[in-house]
Amino acid sequence: MMAARQSVRACTSGLSRFAVPARAAHFNVPVADNRRSDDVSSTSRRAFTYALFAGGGIVGAHVAKTLVNDFLDTMSMSADVKALAQIEVDLGTVPEGANAVMKWQGKPLFVRNRTAGEIEAARSVDQADLPDPAKDEDRLLGPDNWLVLLGICTHLGCVPLSHTGDFAGYFCPCHGSHYDTSGRIRKGPAPANLEIPPYKFIDDGATLVVG
Ligand code: FES
Repeated sequence: MMAARQSVRACTSGLSRFAVPARAAHFNVPVADNRRSDDVSSTSRRAFTYALFAGGGIVGAHVAKTLVNDFLDTMSMSADVKALAQIEVDLGTVPEGANAVMKWQGKPLFVRNRTAGEIEAARSVDQADLPDPAKDEDRLLGPDNWLVLLGICTHLGCVPLSHTGDFAGYFCPCHGSHYDTSGRIRKGPAPANLEIPPYKFIDDGATLVVG
């Protein structure tokens, strides 16, 4: 296991080793805050003005302002949640044959740079032998060598160990589940393959974005 350098746009307080940028750094526009009447953002005031013209009355304007502020708060929350949900991984820090372990949304995340032999092993399997049939190709969202998984055993949630077990993929020591180099369950009590999170590659494949 090796640590990979992560560029984290934002994270939860539980991930204390990650830097937490100032709130203002996450947004390009002012964030509405209806708790401080003396500091309403210009965006909020503008939206409120539009709503006032549309509503045409004191009561209507009050309702409209509440709705607009709620809407702006929702937009802000969405941006915040989106930032919290993503991490970036510099793939140059994960050498061939390594399985980097990191945290994503408080969960263990595996980023494995598979060797040619590991890819071949994952693809030479008869689907009929798999408890949870899935082609290796269908478990990848990018280049063949990059395997990205949630490191949570599908039996009772332990964190499996990499490069061990009968199939040299992952082994969960809690109750003896063996996963292959595609993260598919092959033996033991786990009922399903290791889960694949949403991810994509940017910077011409140099950076992985999870979430
Ligand atoms: S939690 Fe992994 S085998 Fe039981």
